[in-house]
Amino acid sequence: MRNSRSVRWLGAVVLALSGLACGEPQTDPDTLTVKTEDGTDLPLREATPELHARFKEGDALFDFTYNEADGLGPLYIRAACSSCHQAAAKGPGAVQKMAVVDADGVTSAEDQSALAWGHTVRPYKTAGATQTIGVPPGGANLKLSLRVGPAVFGRGYLEAIADSEIERMQAEQATRTDGIHGRINRVTYHSQPNPGQPFQAHQPGDTNLIGRFGVKARIASLDEFTADAMQGDMGITSPMRPGEPVNPDGLTDDGKPGVDVDLARVNAVADYMRLLEIPSRAAPGADGPRLFSEARCAVCHVPSLKTRGDYPFAPLAGRDAPVYSDLLLHDLGTGLADGMVDESATSREWRTAPLIGLRFFTTYLHDGRVKTIRDAILAHQGPGSEANDSVTRFQQLSAPEQTALLDFVSSL
Ligand code: HEC
Ligand code: HEC
Repeated sequence: MRNSRSVRWLGAVVLALSGLACGEPQTDPDTLTVKTEDGTDLPLREATPELHARFKEGDALFDFTYNEADGLGPLYIRAACSSCHQAAAKGPGAVQKMAVVDADGVTSAEDQSALAWGHTVRPYKTAGATQTIGVPPGGANLKLSLRVGPAVFGRGYLEAIADSEIERMQAEQATRTDGIHGRINRVTYHSQPNPGQPFQAHQPGDTNLIGRFGVKARIASLDEFTADAMQGDMGITSPMRPGEPVNPDGLTDDGKPGVDVDLARVNAVADYMRLLEIPSRAAPGADGPRLFSEARCAVCHVPSLKTRGDYPFAPLAGRDAPVYSDLLLHDLGTGLADGMVDESATSREWRTAPLIGLRFFTTYLHDGRVKTIRDAILAHQGPGSEANDSVTRFQQLSAPEQTALLDFVSSL
């Protein structure tokens, strides 16, 4: 659901639809699409009428609230994508993570067996489940952390960026002498094949893909992320991710026998996110970009990277993607560490957050621990962080310069 104005009306539509089975998209996209006044949930400016229609179809499915008859559960965290990515922006829904850590309180422990049901709290049950997954009592040295649903707008640009650009960033940073040296999260494809995707042919077990999505860049493409989110956050299985996540009741299915949605539905939701525009940006003053660069923010938050020429959505092919991220993992030290390992990313490593539409957020950083951009910058500093020098440079700016930099970042 997008904004408070539309909540009641949309709620009524969702209720009316919730009794339907949903192997196929059942919603009439036109009835569900509400234009947000704030402009976080809009299609690419250069989208053709066909792409507009595709966008609307996926938008409705992104807002769809699943129930038991649709295959929700047996355990779940929230029942709609938009609960955690409201109006395609950040939150308010979040996921509670847990990890067993060594005595240092930071390093992920070798033995994670205390977490028999995985690293994710799944607080709600349906479809015959009797037990949820919570934080196990006592014993293990557990580190708890939160992940707030990141914004999904502008993610088509992230997917379209050429592999060679990300590799170039890694190579350039490797020669730096100031301690900033991001690295690619090389990831494995953990899904079944998706023949509906024209621009990739990943097979189960394919390795060496460039991770781009998730706060630790653990997944390479938007369709795989969609299937992963359906399965992991809602218990909605698909041909790409046909199994229910393990659960204490040992349930292997839910209120809807077999896989819950088809590939067409996964791809419609993925295409919606591919087609989401970057919210409009005011023309920057001269000082903001200069200070952003002088404080070395731009080393990690790279203003722009080139997209591949053969990306299937023409508006995103062969152009600049102004995403303010290098898509690399950086060690931000012990202060932000969460104990979690995602593919090759360690407890202390995070993907450079794309600086897109920040003025629409109410909290910042992966766990939403701070409420202002200034505090987000200060939180980059800590023992072992690659960003320490950058934060010091920010602190050394005069008050008006700091304001100019913060205004610039919030305008992105
Ligand atoms: C319970 C809350 C929740 C629900 C429901 C949810 N997400 Fe997310 N989403 C998150 C969190 C938390 C992350 C970061 C997870 C990570 O890094 O592993 C995330 C990350 C993402 C990303 C990656 C964004 C980026 O910046 O890399 C995409 C894309 C995404 N979700 C799409 C979806 C879709 C599609 C659905 C519905 C099928 C969905 N999510 C449902 C919480 C949620
Ligand atoms: C060494 C690389 C690096 C440098 C240098 C750096 N950042 Fe970041 N930045 C990151 C990473 C990684 C994250 C994600 C951290 C997290 O979510 O916990 C991030 C997150 C952020 C966020 C929060 C975004 C969100 O979605 O919540 C803001 C704002 C930000 N950086 C601004 C800046 C500014 C301004 C500077 C310069 C003063 C800067 N950063 C310097 C890597 C860097």
